[in-house]
Amino acid sequence: MTEVTIRGVEEEDFLEIMKVAAECAPVPLERDSIYHCFTRYFADTCFVAESRSLVVGFILGWISQVESTIAYVHNVCVMPDMRKKGIATRLYDRFIETVKVKGCKEVFLIVNPRNEASLRFHQALGFRISEEGEGIEVNGVRAVKDYNGPAQHMVVMYKTI
Ligand SMILES: CC(C)(COP(=O)(O)OP(=O)(O)OC[C@H]1O[C@@H](n2cnc3c(N)ncnc32)[C@H](O)[C@@H]1OP(=O)(O)O)[C@@H](O)C(=O)NCCC(=O)NCCS
Repeated sequence: MTEVTIRGVEEEDFLEIMKVAAECAPVPLERDSIYHCFTRYFADTCFVAESRSLVVGFILGWISQVESTIAYVHNVCVMPDMRKKGIATRLYDRFIETVKVKGCKEVFLIVNPRNEASLRFHQALGFRISEEGEGIEVNGVRAVKDYNGPAQHMVVMYKTI
């Protein structure tokens, strides 16, 4: 089996991260400067999975600037042909280990209620669905109504670490 290593990002990784993100619908692709911001200014809380010198997955996150015990995962993606091999779990392990050392107690993220793979994945990792805000059921799951603007309902998930 091909070896996959997890490492912290380097600034120039943003282009490869973008290529992976482009293969990871339904997560929307950001403009390139956003990925560059992560690899330049949030590099201590962003990691890539690498196989044969190619980036095959990533996790991008940060520690809240207003509540230092909270970490947030903006996105986690693995190339389609590399899924179900534990790569995203390893990326999360590294992220959580890192933010824990920096004093974080909880990790938050949002998931589109129609992204069942992501919901199942995060639940398998022990994330729970937050009861915050006004709830609305979408696709059989509790989302926060209008979280990202009108009709943009999102599931808020969290885990105590
Ligand atoms: C979600 C995603 C990151 C998971 O990556 P992965 O490397 O395949 O995940 P893992 O192999 O670590 O999975 C760990 C566990 O999560 C669960 N899981 C993962 N993918 C799943 C799926 N498609 N359906 C149901 N459960 C799933 C399983 O319990 C799995 O354990 P198992 O393989 O022993 O059954 C990947 O599917 C992906 O990149 N999706 C597109 C982008 C995306 O939606 N990102 C999340 C944005 S919020």
